[in-house]
Amino acid sequence: MSKRPIIIDTDPGIDDAVAIAIALFSEELDVRLITTVAGNVSLDKVTYNTLRLLKFFGKEVPVAKGAEAPLVLPLQDASNVHGKSGMEGFDFEEPDDHLLLKENAVNAMYRVIMESPEPITLVPIAPLTNIALLLKLYPEVKKNIREIVLMGGSASRGNKGVMSEFNIATDPEAAKIVFDSGLPLVMAGLDVGWKALVLPEDSAKLPALGEVGRMAYCLFQKYRGGSMKTGLKMYDSCAMAYLLKPEMYEIVETYVDVELHGSMTAGCTLVDLKGYLGKPSNAKVCLDINQEMFRQWFLERMAKCI
Ligand code: RIB
Ligand code: CA
Repeated sequence: MSKRPIIIDTDPGIDDAVAIAIALFSEELDVRLITTVAGNVSLDKVTYNTLRLLKFFGKEVPVAKGAEAPLVLPLQDASNVHGKSGMEGFDFEEPDDHLLLKENAVNAMYRVIMESPEPITLVPIAPLTNIALLLKLYPEVKKNIREIVLMGGSASRGNKGVMSEFNIATDPEAAKIVFDSGLPLVMAGLDVGWKALVLPEDSAKLPALGEVGRMAYCLFQKYRGGSMKTGLKMYDSCAMAYLLKPEMYEIVETYVDVELHGSMTAGCTLVDLKGYLGKPSNAKVCLDINQEMFRQWFLERMAKCI
């Protein structure tokens, strides 16, 4: 079976770190490029964290730096969730920069997509600034993009605002460009992210799985996306779970828009489940997840990270 070629756009980020590990150590996915974008912490920090992860994983994947701020809004980071460095809790070795491309993320994505003999899947697990810039600067890439499988949005409530999820709310203008692009979209939002939990009995098993499991366990001690006691929310792994085990999801095809102007609702995703707006579907939305299946899948995948 040929591997599915993907590009990961990321802002590590503790939940990004384990999602990237799952993708890199899977037999099913071929990670052609990793691009970084300001989100959880600054662009320099998320890029440094990406390089530290690749050194730790021993994986030779090219990295390209992207946008240092959202298209319009100022960056409001999530260092309260991931720590000042964006990946508190584990003592990584210093990376060398040989994987860091001179090209910026948008040009690197353009090159990798246009050079690929088969269509590429984009997997943004961060604010959508880079993806929006790519689609605006190089619309011709659309013909060689198979799908965009993103972590972001919510059909219910928010985790950054009352109704808004962090990746979308950090750069709503970029998100609107992506949702309006006409490309096949999969939205793995908070509706599944909140239920994709690593429970205490699961975390306890991580150190015995090997070096990556031990790394995850150490990072999880500092991760404030939930807690070790009540369960840790593996938001970004939900995008990988769609690619690797979609049967764990309940999925609906519907119309999704991004609110840009509401004084109270800017940054929220409007998931029109009842078709009030009369617009054709533009996304597959993951509405529910089999929690037991996720927990088992997560540990199985972490066990492969050796
Ligand atoms: O809302 C969750 C998302 O915001 C995840 O991608 C997490 O890493 C943060 O970026
Ligand atoms: Ca992220």
